[in-house]
Amino acid sequence: MRIGILTGGGDCPGLNAVIRAVVRSAMSNGDEVVGFRDGWRGVLDDDAVPLDLASVRGLLPRGGTVLGTSRTNPYAIEGGAERLVATLERHRLDALVPVGGEDTLGVAAKLAGEGLRVVGVPKTIDNDLDGTDYTFGFDTAVGVAMEAIDRLHTTGDSHHRTLVVEVMGRHAGWIALHAGMAGGATVVLVPERPFDVEAVVGHCLHRFESGYSPIVVVSEGARPADGALVTASGQTDAFGHVRLGGIGAALAALLEERTGREARAVVLGHVQRGGTPSAFDRVLATRFGLAAVDAVHEGQTGVMVALRGTDVVLVPIAEATAHLKLVPLERYAEAEVFFG
Ligand code: F6P
Repeated sequence: MRIGILTGGGDCPGLNAVIRAVVRSAMSNGDEVVGFRDGWRGVLDDDAVPLDLASVRGLLPRGGTVLGTSRTNPYAIEGGAERLVATLERHRLDALVPVGGEDTLGVAAKLAGEGLRVVGVPKTIDNDLDGTDYTFGFDTAVGVAMEAIDRLHTTGDSHHRTLVVEVMGRHAGWIALHAGMAGGATVVLVPERPFDVEAVVGHCLHRFESGYSPIVVVSEGARPADGALVTASGQTDAFGHVRLGGIGAALAALLEERTGREARAVVLGHVQRGGTPSAFDRVLATRFGLAAVDAVHEGQTGVMVALRGTDVVLVPIAEATAHLKLVPLERYAEAEVFFG
């Protein structure tokens, strides 16, 4: 068989492990693999590279994606869908394996609807894709954020000041929730639950009273109940997402004024996405890659590999991209027990 693969959207630790697993598994079956550069952009422009065993050597621990990525939306470009189909036909592909989040897989679902054979692989550090318990990249991002929080505790306590840690998470607060719980944050603020500034001030003052300094973990997409989202710029990407960033600094200024204690903001940003994947993410990405090739061999289409419990299963892509997987209020309530 001839299998195409691409990686789209924000990069994520574990993408190379998927590429490696797809190529290794395909080669052992006598299949051929073609990689498209920079997500859907590579399919639109027919920018492809053959992938063999030599091209995936040493990829397992490597962050980012050797295929490159982009946030190109072919359906936002006139004639885009036709160009995708033409490229895939030119390469005589039996199936395409797009590795991506809600946007990349949304395009994949449309292509499958048009009759092309597509098997998706979910990825996002935000862990907000529905249909799968976890996406690879999330565990690595949480580990990076937790280590930062551990370090910030000691400097914060030394200076008796509040430290606000802004983490990624556009619509879902999974990174903030897990990193905040693992790092013993004083407060965790997530997009799903607009926050009460008075309550945050109260938790910080309580923490100071106990002789320690507060750590406030805030998702970039969190906002006060009586305020708006803080954006880094007014621009939107090809899928209509605004660039977030700045809530940490805004909150630190507010907390400094309201608590009467110094406050500083730390933005972890792309540090959470870069670098080598954790063991969990390497294994999950590898299992996803193997399962995607198996699904191609079974003749499946319009499906995505997914983790349910400890099993890798197939779910309809359309179902997985219909809604985002947000932090349920009862999960947030578990973190709240430790606030203050
Ligand atoms: O979608 C994943 C994500 O990491 C979001 O949490 C974040 O808002 C966005 O990507 C950042 O995108 P970019 O790398 O384009 O700034």
